[in-house]
Amino acid sequence: MSGRRWWLLVSALVSACTGERGDDELVQQGGTFTVNDATAYSYMSPAPAIEDNPALLERHLNGDRLYGLERVASPARVPGTGGLGPLYVGRSCVSCHQRDGRTKPTLFTSGGSGFDFSTFLVFMKNINGEFFPDYGRVLHDHAIFGAQPEGRLKVEYTEACDEFPTEEHERYCLITPRYWITDWYTTPPPENELAISVRVPLRHVGLGLMMAVDQGELRALAATQYPEFGITPRLQWIQERGVWEIGVGGHKAQHSDLTVELGFSSNLGITNHRFPDNVARGQPQITVDEGLEISDAEMADVDFYLQSLGVPARRNAGDPVVRRGRELFQQAGCHLCHAPTLHTSRTPPRLIDGTPMPMLADQTIHMYSDLLLHDMGPALGDQFTQFQASGDEWRTAPLWGIGLQQVVNGHTYFLHDGRARNLLEAIMWHREEEGAVSYEIFRHLPKADRDALMAFVNSL
Ligand code: HEC
Ligand code: HEC
Repeated sequence: MSGRRWWLLVSALVSACTGERGDDELVQQGGTFTVNDATAYSYMSPAPAIEDNPALLERHLNGDRLYGLERVASPARVPGTGGLGPLYVGRSCVSCHQRDGRTKPTLFTSGGSGFDFSTFLVFMKNINGEFFPDYGRVLHDHAIFGAQPEGRLKVEYTEACDEFPTEEHERYCLITPRYWITDWYTTPPPENELAISVRVPLRHVGLGLMMAVDQGELRALAATQYPEFGITPRLQWIQERGVWEIGVGGHKAQHSDLTVELGFSSNLGITNHRFPDNVARGQPQITVDEGLEISDAEMADVDFYLQSLGVPARRNAGDPVVRRGRELFQQAGCHLCHAPTLHTSRTPPRLIDGTPMPMLADQTIHMYSDLLLHDMGPALGDQFTQFQASGDEWRTAPLWGIGLQQVVNGHTYFLHDGRARNLLEAIMWHREEEGAVSYEIFRHLPKADRDALMAFVNSL
């Protein structure tokens, strides 16, 4: 379809756009949790309500300490620092979430599991959709002295380039990864029985507000379809604690909490009340069991820490180019999935120990996500189902704070496995299924408009 025909289609569709708020209102992206910080520490700032309250700040700082604490193998010389492994993928949460962001993925430079921490997770399941009991949920590519890592990830990329169909004929390239596992500690599972999914870490922007989102609003969004755009959002229903809940966290919205207990157990090998067994306990090499390595109170402090982080305010919202970009974001239908405005529930959310978080209730927030699942097509798919999410479905990535990722983590790798090396590539990967109409509109924009749209995304 020619650029002009696209524009006609666009103008017909634009009238369907919802009445949006003024730019000024959208600056305070996190409601009262907004912080005016655009530095490398912007994802790490506690919300003002926490900063101003000494008791809450103390709890926040204790959670921060436990979150960043580098674990060593037991017995540790410094009390409280042991418990690492025997198998692990990071030494602390910060290994992968540097400054509460997305630690720079090493996949490109090291071709997979590198010498040091790899910063990604490799989820593994068998053909029946179950975790391997003797590996746990993820591939552990590190082990303490005396144990052997389960295996190593390898990746190869193929690059394909194309031109935009507009006057400037600007070139762009996308790289497609191929993953496999080598150096298994024992006989590998037959290849046709193994499903893997490679994920890069998520930025910890506004996690408390995400936990507090009004679920009625999500249900309403899931019930709204946009046939002109081929967009049919779906709610993620998960069962992790014996009851069905709406999933909101993780790349496939496969979690309904902030996975603190799971993170300590599965990623660091720190046993706890909810996951008392060492991961990979079925392996003959895992014999020791030394009791629980982190207390419930400590894990609740980490949960508090994550839920009390602030959200960086938008930058340059009044800039004319950014304003134009915001209009184009709507014209291209980006906002139909990356929903600009959500609300948190009147009832405050609770930490894992049951403590209510009243300061998170009743907020108007701008995370640019509907937290729902969308079919993004097989090119982006991983053939790895999680609860209701098929291999091709992903949770709309929240965009708040995205423009600061370069400042915070020193890179612009995006999408669930970091395959997009910059913002332009991330958008160009929306080319199939539910993303296709948006993609076509974006692709046919003159370069100046594409740049304006990206300037808007970078202002979030
Ligand atoms: C080896 C790297 C690694 C380590 C170590 C790690 N994470 Fe993660 N984290 C990830 C990846 C990858 C994801 C995204 C995976 C997914 O859920 O799809 C993630 C997702 C999360 C999320 C979901 C956020 C969202 O927006 O939905 C939270 C919360 C989280 N991690 C907390 C922690 C905590 C707490 C620790 C320490 C106990 C930790 N992580 C340690 C890699 C890591
Ligand atoms: C059909 C729903 C849908 C539409 C429309 C859509 N997106 Fe997305 N977007 C997603 C999903 C789902 C992901 C996560 C995909 C993944 O991780 O592989 C995503 C990811 C992204 C990311 C990567 C974020 C990160 O941190 O990794 C950016 C940037 C983005 N979208 C921008 C846009 C822009 C700009 C538009 C409009 C041109 C747009 N999207 C339209 C659903 C959508």
